[in-house]
Amino acid sequence: MNDLEMYREQLALCDDKIIDALVERNSIVEKIMAYKEKYGMTILQPAQEEKQQRRLEEKLAGNKYQDEIEDVFHRILRNSKRIQARKLFPYNIVLIGFMGAGKSAISDFLSTMFDMRLVEMDQEISERQEMSIPDIFATYGEEYFRNLETELLRELRAENGCVISCGGGVALREENVAEMKKNGRVVLLTASPETIYERVKDSNDRPLLNGNKNVEFIADLMEKRREKYEAAADVVIRTDHKTVLQSCEELITKLMELDGK
Ligand code: S3P
Repeated sequence: MNDLEMYREQLALCDDKIIDALVERNSIVEKIMAYKEKYGMTILQPAQEEKQQRRLEEKLAGNKYQDEIEDVFHRILRNSKRIQARKLFPYNIVLIGFMGAGKSAISDFLSTMFDMRLVEMDQEISERQEMSIPDIFATYGEEYFRNLETELLRELRAENGCVISCGGGVALREENVAEMKKNGRVVLLTASPETIYERVKDSNDRPLLNGNKNVEFIADLMEKRREKYEAAADVVIRTDHKTVLQSCEELITKLMELDGK
């Protein structure tokens, strides 16, 4: 055997070790999940993630392959999240609710924590049309926009393990709700008109609120929509006075309860 062949042998042995370690690591991840479930512990633990990250940085400090190894570790951690997500949510999580109820913030956090694909419907529609939402409303009217929403939802039915953040009007159409439910659990986020007002008062990207940014208008429109929102929801989360992490924890617990986990 020449040296090259010998090195290749050694490399193959290294790869075997890596595979064995990853299999072991993944099964430990499953054990941790089972433990948390059994003892009713919170699933999301960002502090633990930070601790893991610090440990990794300390161990790799000064290492000549630091960047490359960190890159691999980030992928490993993302994969662990995906294993958790697949087990907990073998469906799409569809967030609905009034403008400013917290859909974007919560879907963003959730998709990061579980490495799930995030579909922000307004953003997706705006990118595809190469226009802002207010411009779509102004140019083509609301009905046109609502049809785009329905089309996008139909497409997403074929997906699995996505977090879908709906625009505030999506759940008002019955056919949209039927689409959501085919492969998703629907989470309604709520907040008081006062909280909503505080959250939306400085933004101008919601055509329905332009010129109507006051608590009375918000309360009125919210009341008109309430019945449809509630009828669509599998679970409801109030987001007033809660951090994004707290709302996400509640969401996870309620979805797990729904599935009898
Ligand atoms: C709308 C909500 C908006 C956006 C559009 C219409 C609505 O989304 O889709 O301005 O009818 O409530 P957000 O709820 O994300 O602001």
